[in-house]
Amino acid sequence: MEIVNPALDDYLIAHATPADDVLRDLAEETRRSYPDLTSMQITQDEGALLALLVGLTGARRIIEVGTFTGYSALCMARALPSDGTLLACDVSEEWTSVARRHWERAGVADRIDLRLAPALETIRSLPDEETFDLAFIDADKVGYPDYWEALVPRMRRGGLLVLDNVLRSGKVVDPEARDEATEAIRRVNDTITADERVESVLLPVRDGVTLARRR
Ligand SMILES: C[S@@+](CC[C@H](N)C(=O)[O-])C[C@H]1O[C@@H](n2cnc3c(N)ncnc32)[C@H](O)[C@@H]1O
Repeated sequence: MEIVNPALDDYLIAHATPADDVLRDLAEETRRSYPDLTSMQITQDEGALLALLVGLTGARRIIEVGTFTGYSALCMARALPSDGTLLACDVSEEWTSVARRHWERAGVADRIDLRLAPALETIRSLPDEETFDLAFIDADKVGYPDYWEALVPRMRRGGLLVLDNVLRSGKVVDPEARDEATEAIRRVNDTITADERVESVLLPVRDGVTLARRR
């Protein structure tokens, strides 16, 4: 199921903040090196949305769960103030080595702390007092309910959680779709709606993006 009419795709891309050379090169290298995995990367308009959200929330401390070749981290890190930091969680040395090169080139590598380990381990190993202004969740879909529970208590009041792929190409409303990832996404979507610690909205941006603000 297409979430947004594909006829609008190019128009949507053309009407978000344009990608600069570094973002374009990163997207191009990802396409060339991992042609079957390109859909893992967020799109230019989603990157523009993330950068806007960082600016609008005044975030200084961000956590990203799921970094891949670094596109979303780059968009967010650039939008941070110069003393801001982004904790990037991934398990792939190979994919994140591409990310590191492009972060260096963009001049934001010193703002990004990349941890190569299962994200839940990384989050659980943080000191209790460690909190975040913004969290972007875009890793393994079966992990989303656990990431939600681990991160909500670590968000400051007014902090924003952003979750990608929460519509699973429409599978969330397909009763035949019983795979583990779709079940996990349905579960986290229902949890968020009922969670009184946050106010939230699920936006039909690309594959579905939830914004949840800690009360
Ligand atoms: C959809 S991609 C992330 C795309 C990225 N946000 C971007 O803009 O290009 C998902 C990433 O989650 C990572 N991942 C999968 N399981 C993970 C886990 N348990 N902990 C941390 N990262 C994980 C994968 O290695 C992959 O790089």
